Amino acid sequence: MVIRAGVVGHPIGQSLSPDIHGAWFADTGIEGSYEKIDASPDAFVAAIERLKDEGWVGVNVTVPHKERALAIADETSKAAKAIGAANLLRFVSGRIVADNTDWWGFTRAIETAGLSACVECAVVLGAGGAAAGILYALRESREVLILNRTRQRAEDLASRFPNASADEWGRRHELVASSPQLLVNTTSLGMEGQPPLDLRFGGSVPDAVVDIVTKPLPTPLMTDAEAAGVGVVMGGLPMLVYQAVPSFAAFTGHEPPAPEAILRQLTKRFS
Ligand code: ATR
Repeated sequence: MVIRAGVVGHPIGQSLSPDIHGAWFADTGIEGSYEKIDASPDAFVAAIERLKDEGWVGVNVTVPHKERALAIADETSKAAKAIGAANLLRFVSGRIVADNTDWWGFTRAIETAGLSACVECAVVLGAGGAAAGILYALRESREVLILNRTRQRAEDLASRFPNASADEWGRRHELVASSPQLLVNTTSLGMEGQPPLDLRFGGSVPDAVVDIVTKPLPTPLMTDAEAAGVGVVMGGLPMLVYQAVPSFAAFTGHEPPAPEAILRQLTKRFS
């Protein structure tokens, strides 16, 4: 049986997921395809139903459909429920099973750099859907501070995680200088077409800075962090590649043999 899987989003043209899964289908010799499906919010549910009826094994789901994907599922994993969003839908005996692998991708990405998602203090910038996955990944940490331009969103997100609290966006310079182990940018600042993140490093610096932005690379934040002497500086590509690992396993029943190879290729292509 030829496995059919893909990624549903809007817009979807720039998605790198077909490159990642395509490389793994080639590496494993498993016969399958991974396609991009563009579906507007109005067309999302019908698109999912169609793919399920056509016998696809499942799909990844990306912006802006991750919350809706969770809502339409017949079954949801603990992680997807806690995060409030799904990036993986599997079709099992006519049922839709939702999971979230973004948090796992983040955890695995920082582990490959010798770090742990269980730290004394982490600072997370942003309080959107991407931040929720990071908060779940950091749920065993002692303290996580969420700073967001719109304070109420930070408060709402913090209320869902017992180790998290909200602080003022304006205090980011000061808090970063208080040397948290980890600083994670989940805002869209620094992304192509967006203004850079205004963050001054000074005094003590975090042990690690992760910017989940994938374009451009390096981001201005990564350049600033490196110049300030931060030990580990990471962009969004490792998280993107590692979140695909459990998805590929769910689609095919096989782990991709060497995720590092495609990560190296993409890093070379985008740096
Ligand atoms: P995602 O689901 O990808 O996280 P999102 O929900 O649109 O996307 O969140 C984008 C994040 O970037 C938010 O935290 C947003 O802050 P607000 O909640 O205040 O909107 C943040 N962001 C976007 N533009 C920003 C700006 N100019 N300054 C500060 N934060 C910004």
